[in-house]
Amino acid sequence: MAKPSQPAVKPGDDAQERRNFFTKVAAVVIGGFVALIPAATGLAVFLDPLRKKSKAGEMLPIAPLGAVPDDGIPRQFPVVAEHVDAWTQSKQPIGAVYIRRLPGQEKPECLSATCPHAGCFVAYDKPTDTFKCPCHNSSFAVDGAIIEPSPSPRAMDSLESEIVGGEILVKYENFYTGKAEKIVKL
Ligand code: FES
Repeated sequence: MAKPSQPAVKPGDDAQERRNFFTKVAAVVIGGFVALIPAATGLAVFLDPLRKKSKAGEMLPIAPLGAVPDDGIPRQFPVVAEHVDAWTQSKQPIGAVYIRRLPGQEKPECLSATCPHAGCFVAYDKPTDTFKCPCHNSSFAVDGAIIEPSPSPRAMDSLESEIVGGEILVKYENFYTGKAEKIVKL
C-alpha cells in the first residue's frame, strides 16, 4: 500500500517560519512593555512621596483680599491643593486656615486651623473673640497665643502669607502635634 506522500518542502520555508516566530516574539515583548508603562508610571507616582508632598509648603491661593475686611475678625478658609496622580488631576481640600487683617493693615495674619495639641480643627468663638478646640478644650487668643490652662503645648501655628494680584496666598504647612516646638512635617 502506497504511503501518503509528504508535502514538498519548498526552499525558503524554514526561513519564513523563523521570521514568523521572531515576529510573534517581538509582538509579545513590545506588547508587554507597552502594558507596563502605565503600571510603572502609577507605581512611581504612588511611591514618590516628594511628588505627593510637593503641594505642601507651596504658596497656595486662598481667597481674594476683599474677602478679609480689615476689622480684626478671623475668617476661616479651606486650603485646596491640586492633586495629581498617574491618571487624574483634581483639587482636594488639605486643611483650613484663619486669616484676619487688623484695622488699616493690608497684610493679613494667617493661622493654621489645626490644633497643635492633637490635630483637631479649632473653632473661632466670636462672642469671646478667642479660638477654642472642641477636642480637649485648648483655648487661644485671637492672635493664636495660648490661653492657660490648655493642654496644647504651644500657640496656634502661624503661616506665611502674601498678596499677589489682589489674592491672598498662604504657605500651607503641617506641623507635628503634641510638641512645644513648631516642627514642619516633611
Ligand atoms: S486636639 Fe485640640 S485640645 Fe486636644
